[in-house]
Amino acid sequence: MNIKRSKLKTNYISIMNIISQKSLLEHNTFNINVKANKYVNIKTETDLIKLLNQKQFKKIKKTIIGGGSNILLTKDIKGLVIHNQIQGIKILKSNIKSVIIEVGAGVIWDNLVSWSTKLQLYGIENLSLIPGSVGASPIQNIGAYGVELKDVFKELRAINLKTNKLRVFKKSECEFGYRNSIFKNELKEKYVISKIIIQLSKKQIVNTTYYGLENKLKKFTKKELTSELIRSKIIEIRNAKLPDPKIIGNAGSFFKNPTINKELLTNLQHDHPEIPFFENKIGIKVPAGWLIEKLKWRGHQEKNCGVSKKHALVIVNYGKATGKEILKLSNKIKKNVYKEFKINLEEEVSIL
Ligand code: FAD
Ligand code: EPU
Repeated sequence: MNIKRSKLKTNYISIMNIISQKSLLEHNTFNINVKANKYVNIKTETDLIKLLNQKQFKKIKKTIIGGGSNILLTKDIKGLVIHNQIQGIKILKSNIKSVIIEVGAGVIWDNLVSWSTKLQLYGIENLSLIPGSVGASPIQNIGAYGVELKDVFKELRAINLKTNKLRVFKKSECEFGYRNSIFKNELKEKYVISKIIIQLSKKQIVNTTYYGLENKLKKFTKKELTSELIRSKIIEIRNAKLPDPKIIGNAGSFFKNPTINKELLTNLQHDHPEIPFFENKIGIKVPAGWLIEKLKWRGHQEKNCGVSKKHALVIVNYGKATGKEILKLSNKIKKNVYKEFKINLEEEVSIL
């Protein structure tokens, strides 16, 4: 009996394929070469719960990664790195107006968008080409071109890293905001998201609220504006603006766009009457890219890293930079922006 049990245990661990001292070079778009003390690739919710219940993993620190497109690795990762690869897109409900789908956290976000536009569904086409996994999409409530995940989101399934129990979070419980959610605050690093449930429309809904997009789309008739066409235009815009992480290491916008008050805007306008700004419910949003470009950082290179020539909000790795070098550069930019504009930039990227 004992022998059988121990055999089972060994088999189970080998199925899980836990790797020691695993390089994370292939697992982050900044191309930083640090190691995970232990690394595991998870393919189902059941496997994840079984793994977490194993005595040897109960007390050690766990770090979750998806596509690694919003992390900056500054040191080797202690404990266990869990790479979430739960697959599957499942239609739960469908009527003449919409479909409700459940998607595994390990699905590549842009594959989901491509799947949806091929079926002529509407809702996430403006979020085309955002790198990374579905499981990370609620963490910062991904957004682009006037749309955020929260606009289609219904609920998610996640496993608590302390109790190992599965919990369903309704939309209101996720506390979504601009590049924000409860998983970046009170519940930071406390849950592994395993599946998300979203609702997509079968009826045409076109969101051209983002400046620049409307221009690209105005020559098309309403009938021509399929989600597939919008996706192709978003891909064109993004390819023109943002550096491709397959060519040069980066994690997209390094900082969030700051929100400032009217008084500060008026002060800034005194010296910079051309400063772009957008008013919203919580204040006035200023593009961080503009602030950084104004201080002449765009295209700046410092040894192995620098600021993208294409976009001032994107820090790039020219090949050999360490996470610490990139962090140092980002802090210099932050300090400079504060000194000149009295604006405190907040990192969008998770620093690990
Ligand atoms: P990772 O980088 O692996 O992880 C990000 C964070 O989420 C980490 O803290 C990690 O611990 C946590 N996490 C990941 N998966 C899970 C899970 N299953 N459960 C719990 N926690 C988890 N973002 C936008 O919002 N809009 C954009 O337009 C955009 N453009 C980008 C363009 C480029 C070129 C790049 C490189 C990045 C861009 N991003 C953008 C940022 C990034 O793509 C998103 O934040 C994406 O959701 C990150 O997914 P990921 O799987 O790579 O997450
Ligand atoms: N700008 C400059 N110089 C630059 C870049 C931008 O002056 O080098 C100024 C321009 O005035 C431009 C404005 O900034 O009009 C806005 O630039 P852009 O349209 O490129 O958008 P962004 O505000 O820099 C945000 C998101 C992106 C998202 C796009 C489209 C944040 C932090 N970033 O960028 O998200 O794709 O809008 O919606 O909100 C990401 O999160 O990683 C990301 C890439």
